[in-house]
Amino acid sequence: MIALASDHAGFDLKNEIGRYLEELKLPFKDLGPATNGRTDYAKWGYLAAKAVSSGEYDKGIIICGTGVGISLSANKVKGIRCVVCTDCYTAMLSRQHNNTNMLALGARVLGVDLAKLLVKIWLETEFEGGGRHEQRVNMIMKIEAGNIDFL
Ligand code: RB5
Repeated sequence: MIALASDHAGFDLKNEIGRYLEELKLPFKDLGPATNGRTDYAKWGYLAAKAVSSGEYDKGIIICGTGVGISLSANKVKGIRCVVCTDCYTAMLSRQHNNTNMLALGARVLGVDLAKLLVKIWLETEFEGGGRHEQRVNMIMKIEAGNIDFL
């Protein structure tokens, strides 16, 4: 189950991505906002990230003007690894190597078709796991927990 959220700048693209997830027959919930009135990316990044970190949702897709503010907010929540993505290679590698669980998009940066492609690649790519990639992701999670014994 995918959590979807945006601020006002990402509102139209959020709706496009919602329609695209329906087309792909992938279950998702639009957490909001319900209208395109001015709102704060920090609120929506946090709400979507909490929904993912709690285990209620497997992944999250969040959208603001650049993808930056909303991703920074999401990445403050424990257990979240959110990538801001504008290219297909990063969409793929952020899953294969970094096991990202949230994708942030910039509605003022991306065309709709590229945004949809990034979503598809990101959702379809699996974490390679095992070996060095898993160890490095574990290091990130240790930093979050205040444990830097790997230094
Ligand atoms: C809103 O104007 C804009 O600052 C926001 O959507 C985002 O781009 C911030 O990172």
